[in-house]
Amino acid sequence: MNNQERETHVTYKFPDGFWWGSAASATQTEGASDVDGKGKNIWDHWYELEPNRFFDGVGPEKTSQFYYKYKEDIALMKQIGHNSFRMSISWARLFPEGTGDINPKAVEFYHNVIDELIANDIEPFVGLFHFDMPLAMQEIGGWESREVVDAYVRYVTACFEEFGGKVKKWFTHNEPIVPVEGGYLYDFHYPNIVDFKKAVQVAYHTILSSAKAVEAYRALSQDGQIGIVLNLTPSYPRSQNPADLKAARICDAFFNRSFLDPSVKGTFPEDLVEILKEKGFMPAIAKGDLETIKNNTVDILGVNYYQPRRVKAKESMPHPDSPFMPEFYFDYYEMPGRKMNRHRGWEIYEKGIYDILSNLKENYGNIECFISENGMGVEGEEKFRNAEGMIEDDYRIDFIREHLKWVHKAASEGSNVKGYHLWTFMDNWSWSNAYKNRYGFVSVNLDKDGERSIKKSGYWIQEVSKNNGF
Ligand code: BG6
Repeated sequence: MNNQERETHVTYKFPDGFWWGSAASATQTEGASDVDGKGKNIWDHWYELEPNRFFDGVGPEKTSQFYYKYKEDIALMKQIGHNSFRMSISWARLFPEGTGDINPKAVEFYHNVIDELIANDIEPFVGLFHFDMPLAMQEIGGWESREVVDAYVRYVTACFEEFGGKVKKWFTHNEPIVPVEGGYLYDFHYPNIVDFKKAVQVAYHTILSSAKAVEAYRALSQDGQIGIVLNLTPSYPRSQNPADLKAARICDAFFNRSFLDPSVKGTFPEDLVEILKEKGFMPAIAKGDLETIKNNTVDILGVNYYQPRRVKAKESMPHPDSPFMPEFYFDYYEMPGRKMNRHRGWEIYEKGIYDILSNLKENYGNIECFISENGMGVEGEEKFRNAEGMIEDDYRIDFIREHLKWVHKAASEGSNVKGYHLWTFMDNWSWSNAYKNRYGFVSVNLDKDGERSIKKSGYWIQEVSKNNGF
């Protein structure tokens, strides 16, 4: 092999047409939170109420300003070799009141972004709900309310009608379990309620809304695909003893199969339903709902993978007065020797991504899927900026490469995995961590009017996408 061949030699070659790109969300990137007729969402509202709940007191108005800089950003996506990008539409920008009249300025903005992506040969993957409930909808109960499910279906139908001629990959929800956990169980998202019964109703309505969105999309006979993006956290038992195995299985039912089964199979996991029935937590289910869920499973699944769960049998019973939680059935433990991303407090376990893909292949009909998020949030990246002004994020390159090796292995064993998107394209504002952890291929300098510069990982992924492997 001569030098040139050695440089371009690809050991890990991905299937033809593999999607390379990244993901972002409206509230985390757009900024312009109160211009051109955008309505408030729960993030704008919560920040007004409790700015101290946000890291460094920085709220959602201070994002990377994609609303104004999308052309520059899309040019950078093109430069680093993206052939796809997942964005989301802000419901409250399109429908300031959640329902009612559509905002023409928002229609124009999203057309411009979609057109710009397509003109740069970047396939738009468009999400319809990424944690950002319009405030007007939250005020009538958010996902607890059936009325909100109906309003959501009107909103998504308007999106399909308006943009469906151009957008061929739609996603009904991003990580729908997170608003349930954050908003109704563990108090890290608005409305900061801690109530398991409500959490179940919210989860159920979200699942129903997704199925109804799929139904609405298919009714329009547009020639694209519709899916959902789920954060899957493989649950590994501490040991093979029956109590640990059972604990891991229940944990999996609560946090993975709860959304995965209805989205892909159209059914609910029996073990979870049994618990909900026994504890009196079953949601209100209207006539016809279960058929809607059964008949409207997704075409494609986005898998967000960050970390596994390490689970053991429950060792001590919770206080009888403590509110019911999934953790009544299991405990977490720290696996000795585990690798950590200490900045985010998350374990790094690359093989988890392979285990998820294998599980989808074996137990979920090998549904078409892609890695819709994976990434490493790191604090204080400025210290890695070199004399030429580039952040040398070798740790991120290692992180991506090691995960990709497992994705490659899964693909070579027949997994229907079609792409890999990093979280995220450029450093952006995160829900409660603001700009603490940086995730992007591109850095954003907040002190210099959001100046962008490609990190070393951005140049690395440019090569990977060009060679369709590494
Ligand atoms: C996913 C979300 O949960 O992880 C993103 O889809 C989020 O919106 C990302 O930003 C990283 O998590 P965090 O909390 O570190 O921003």
